[in-house]
Formats: sequence, structure tokens, C-alpha cells
Amino acid sequence: MKHFLTVNDIESLPDWVDEAITLKQNPYQFEDLGKHKTVCLLFFNNSLRTRLSTQKAAMNLGMEVMIMNFGNEGWILEYQDGAIMDQGTSEHIKEAAQVVSQYCDIVAIRAFPDLKDKAKDEAEEVLNGFAKYASVPVVNMESSTGHPLQALADAITLAEHNKKSRPKVVLSWAPHPKALPHAVANSFTQMMKLQDAEFIITHPKGYELNPNITKGCQIEYDQDKALKDADFVYVKNWSNYNDYGKVLNQDLNWTMTQQKLGQAKFMHCLPVRRNVVVEDAVLDGNQSLVINQAQNRTFSAQIVLKKILESL
Ligand code: CP
Repeated sequence: MKHFLTVNDIESLPDWVDEAITLKQNPYQFEDLGKHKTVCLLFFNNSLRTRLSTQKAAMNLGMEVMIMNFGNEGWILEYQDGAIMDQGTSEHIKEAAQVVSQYCDIVAIRAFPDLKDKAKDEAEEVLNGFAKYASVPVVNMESSTGHPLQALADAITLAEHNKKSRPKVVLSWAPHPKALPHAVANSFTQMMKLQDAEFIITHPKGYELNPNITKGCQIEYDQDKALKDADFVYVKNWSNYNDYGKVLNQDLNWTMTQQKLGQAKFMHCLPVRRNVVVEDAVLDGNQSLVINQAQNRTFSAQIVLKKILESL
């Protein structure tokens, strides 16, 4: 595998999920695979789970790990070809990506959107810039439009807790005071399209995600109707996609409550704002899978790093 940039880079979702669940029983089974190999984790944005779980995954495989908070500590990068760099940028992605590639065998990138310019965000200039100019494989640790490591962890969690041949899974929008990206919802949707499940997305009218991603998915604007008899409810805020990056709705009627959840399992990628996105009773109750999802981040990263190491 050259790069892991989107859910589409998962060669076989069921096989990778099975392999991850097996690996979880014996995380050090391949501890020699990464000997004398280095992964470099570049963070342009904050993280808790992605940073620590990817580091842990690499360590389980015997890799060395280098981490840089590029957003605070790196030079400001230029991404335009032919740019006259007489303003704020100090280093071109062409040099930066090639230089980083000399120090490691895999480079992993976290780079969020600025949610101001849809075309610019969808061009994924940081992730795709590294993929274009790096001479080593690139892993997406959440980009402007996708968070495939999270989606793979979510697929592992679903497999571990599902008791039905065709579960009902609902992706439910939630209110949030800040403008958040679409990456988690996009990748979860892409992942669910690979599952044998009844999948429904529910959100207020006007909060449609990228139609290229939701194409073929059932969308229900009535949250109560969508949640009826659900087995799993994945709650996530995203900012408006059409009026790009705006927060046009903070309706707390969309907050997930124990009453709305019913008997379903609750999922969220974390971090989560308590009593805005979801009420305490849900997070503190035994139907919540959020800690399991976070645990599975290690094994989604470990499967991806393992696949790449095996292909080097
Ligand atoms: N879910 C997730 O990616 O968490 P972090 O932003 O803390 O890495």
C-alpha cells in the first residue's frame, strides 16, 4: 500500500476489521516488523487520541516514533506552484516533504480545514502535498475532508458489539457552539457504505453533507423517526456544508438524550461537549461505546502501519 489517505484505501473492510480484532488479542505479535523503521507524526492541529494511539500502534510494531507539532513549531509552508514567497510562508511543501521523507519510513499528517474556502479545503493541500512530494507512504491522521483511521476504529467497534446480521445504524447531527469539520461524518458515511447495514443520516434541513459522499444514503430530517429501533447511534456535529463552515443551527432539541437513544449503543469519536452534543446520562451509561472506540484507535492505526510496513 502506497498511502492511506481515505476510507477507499482500505483494501477489504471485513478482512481488516477481523485482522484488527485478532491483533488486539496479541498486540506484540508483529513487534519485529517495524524494527529500524521510523514513523514521523506531523500535527498541524491538536490531538489526544490520534497522537497517542498512533504512537502506541507504532511502538507495538517495534517502530521508532518522531512527533512534531508542525502547526506551532514548523515553518509556515507554501503550497502554490510557482509562488513568489515574499509574504508569510517560509518553506515550500516540495522541500519540506522531501526532507521529512529522509528521516522516516512513513509520514503521518493531521491537517484540519480552515472552513472558510470549500475549494481550498477540498483540495487537501497539506495531505495531498505530502502525498505528492514525499518519497515515503503518507497516512491521514484527519484531514480537511476525512478521518479514515477513526472510521476504521468505528468499524472495529461496530463489529465487536453488533449482534445482528443487518443492524440499524444512525448518524445523527448534534448542536455545537463552534464550527467543526465534516471529516468524521464523511469517513463514517463512506465506511458505512461498505457495511451490510440499514444506515440512516439524520440532521436539520440545510445541514446536508457533501452529496458526493452521501450519494445513495437514506437521509431523514425527523430525528425521532430516524432513531426508531436503532441498534447504534453515532452522534457528531458538523458545520454547514452549503453555507460553508457556518454555524446556522444550535438547536438543543438535537442533543442526544437517554430517552432518544432507547436501547441503542451510543458512539462518538471524542472529544465531546457534554450536555450540548450528548447528555451526561448517555456518556456515563453502559450503552456508551466511546471509550471502546478510542481503544480501537490503536488497532486501526496498527493495521494500517502493518499493511504499509509489509509493502515496503
Ligand atoms: N477522535 C480523534 O481523532 O481524537 P483527537 O482529535 O483527540 O485525536
